[in-house]
Amino acid sequence: MWRAIMEGLDRRLGWREARARVMADAKRLQPPNAGWGVTLGVMALAALALEMLSGVVLAFHYRATPEAAHASVAQIRDLVPLGWLWLSIHAWGTHTLVALALIHAARVFVKGGHKRPRELTWVAGAVTLFAVLGLSITGHLLPWTNEADWATVVRLGHVNEAPFIGGLASRFLRGGEEVGASTLTRFYILHVAILPAVLAAILCLHLRLVKRLGLAPAVATDEEDAKGHAACAEGGEPWFPNHLLRAAAAATVAAGVLITVAAMFPPEPGARASAVTPPGLRPEWVFLALFQYLKYWPAKIMGLSGQTVGQFFAMLAVGAFALLPFLDRSPERRAGRRKVAIALFALAALVWGSLTFLGAVSGRNIDAFGKTWRFNDRGGLK
Ligand code: HEM
Repeated sequence: MWRAIMEGLDRRLGWREARARVMADAKRLQPPNAGWGVTLGVMALAALALEMLSGVVLAFHYRATPEAAHASVAQIRDLVPLGWLWLSIHAWGTHTLVALALIHAARVFVKGGHKRPRELTWVAGAVTLFAVLGLSITGHLLPWTNEADWATVVRLGHVNEAPFIGGLASRFLRGGEEVGASTLTRFYILHVAILPAVLAAILCLHLRLVKRLGLAPAVATDEEDAKGHAACAEGGEPWFPNHLLRAAAAATVAAGVLITVAAMFPPEPGARASAVTPPGLRPEWVFLALFQYLKYWPAKIMGLSGQTVGQFFAMLAVGAFALLPFLDRSPERRAGRRKVAIALFALAALVWGSLTFLGAVSGRNIDAFGKTWRFNDRGGLK
């Protein structure tokens, strides 16, 4: 009976043939250098899966109106079974996902995994990261806390200054004269429908390209690529079961660490949005560098808004990141033979890290090394 059902299904769906094709593909050898480093992308996938799962749980209880949003989040925290943990996983998941995606991208760059023929894999990865950042910004407003409300006012002010489409984009996102009910509705629809759809589509493309092209071999240059994937992968291990087991172990560790941290450090609930501006407003860590960088621009440059000019250069930098494979065009993948590219990358990371640090300490008094360090708004010492 069982066999007859399976035969019948196979005749209609052809799943046995599909399975044989998938298994043959999964047994393809991967390059010998592909080890634990290539599990970073899978760890990001694990964080994304938890982010989606916790997001669906929260969506069952959340109400997207200024009157109900804050109270509905409090209800999730206090009344829904393990609601506090789902909230915490969702909050920590964003940080984990962004951090893993950045480390993954940095590793890919150092290993030359963005080079021909994997340029589009990089571009799709970068767009995936932008969608995740968009989800982080839109999700921040949803609990309708005072901090998130005012942070959104500041953010939309920055968007308004953006070159070319700033005014239009900020009006569209705000949905009115002030941040209010329409803004919340728009951020909600972006957060639960539009950005997840963009993310899903572009991530599928990213993973499809990874599967189609195979992982980048360490030593392959154009000439070696010409020999084909099979030649470059000689001596390597197959994806199934070797890499799959490694990936499963890494994903389990990533998910385990995320859940443990979320359980140990649930974020403090914020006060409900009000007319009182909270002191010391600053964005999440990933946007701190941009926040700090924009402070150094004068009010006007040759009659143009300094903020607009500053954002223009920031956009160029972001565009250069997304299109990096088309700028860094040499076929050589080995880091030791790409000294200039690696040095420029280290410099960019240093500038980003320093601006992030200055953004974190600016306008604060920090007690460290036995004394109080007073930082002004530009990150200098008072
Ligand atoms: C949520 C974000 C992301 C996820 C879930 C993800 C997932 C993955 C996975 C599973 C792989 C295959 C294994 C590996 O090399 O780790 C991979 C490879 C790759 N990813 Fe991503 N990725 C993400 C973000 C990014 C970003 C931001 C970039 C670059 C801007 C990027 C560029 C690449 C490239 C070029 C490869 C191929 C590397 C090679 O062949 O060695 N990815 N990604």
